[in-house]
Amino acid sequence: MEYSASPLMKPEEFRLIREFTAERFGLVIDLGKEGYLAARLFPRLQELRLGSFAEYYSYLKFAPRSTEEHAHYISLITNNETYFFREMAQLSTFAELVLPELKARKIAAADKRLRILSVGCSSGEEVYTLAMLLLQSGLFAWEWDLRITGIDIDPQVLAKAEAGVYTGRAFQSTPPLFIDRYFRECEQGFQVRDQLRKICNFSRGNMLCLPGDLDSEPADIIFCRNVLIYFDEGNIKRVIDNFAAMLAPEGLLFLGHAESLSRITSQFIPLLFPGAIVYRKKP
Ligand SMILES: C[S@@+](CC[C@H](N)C(=O)[O-])C[C@H]1O[C@@H](n2cnc3c(N)ncnc32)[C@H](O)[C@@H]1O
Repeated sequence: MEYSASPLMKPEEFRLIREFTAERFGLVIDLGKEGYLAARLFPRLQELRLGSFAEYYSYLKFAPRSTEEHAHYISLITNNETYFFREMAQLSTFAELVLPELKARKIAAADKRLRILSVGCSSGEEVYTLAMLLLQSGLFAWEWDLRITGIDIDPQVLAKAEAGVYTGRAFQSTPPLFIDRYFRECEQGFQVRDQLRKICNFSRGNMLCLPGDLDSEPADIIFCRNVLIYFDEGNIKRVIDNFAAMLAPEGLLFLGHAESLSRITSQFIPLLFPGAIVYRKKP
């Protein structure tokens, strides 16, 4: 790709693209980030041979193939930071306290299906972490129908999740036991083993528009961590309403440690665990 310094983004161009991004994807681009946005978008302008950010905005919004461009755009602006076993205290709560209680509830209801969603799953580390914890718990060994679905808006990270090959930083918090048991070494790094793959799948979706055409089985648990920090209050409310509609009665919601539902909704009851808050949908 030919390189040249990106031109300045005019205030009006920034306003239009910023508003479009919040309205369409829920994401808030901080004020004053014109330079950052210009640098991210300029190579794409060059590829498309567009002369200004205003032209790019029109292309994003009105071009016949604008939906295809949304996928490019979102890959350029999202923060996809993630790694296995992120926020361990919360994951311990999930594995040691939540799963046994959920199993007891499911058995009482003669229901041996478990459905977990990871929304904003990025390149899949959260999905595979939950799968490892489920299998490692030994609680759902026989005749259980398990499915963990990762959803993200960015097709590039989803392709990585499907490939399931990871290196270095992705493992920064992974206990070695889990690497030995659930990965096999390959030329490019470490690949998730089939026992994890079998219970995981990935799907492209915009959390503002869920459930969309997703399989509409109610979810027992939704993880949505480190995503809503990039959303404004109106869109957080919209997403939480979607989650409430997708969860089974008494279904559980895990948010990132910097995210909270206080002042957002009264549809959930916060459950306080050591090192973690989990939200239960009101019956
Ligand atoms: C910082 S990552 C969080 C990954 C993982 N949940 C974790 O905590 O490690 C945020 C992810 O949310 C996704 N995302 C942002 N807006 C979204 C939207 N409207 N719908 C679905 N995914 C979205 C981004 O593409 C990105 O991969």
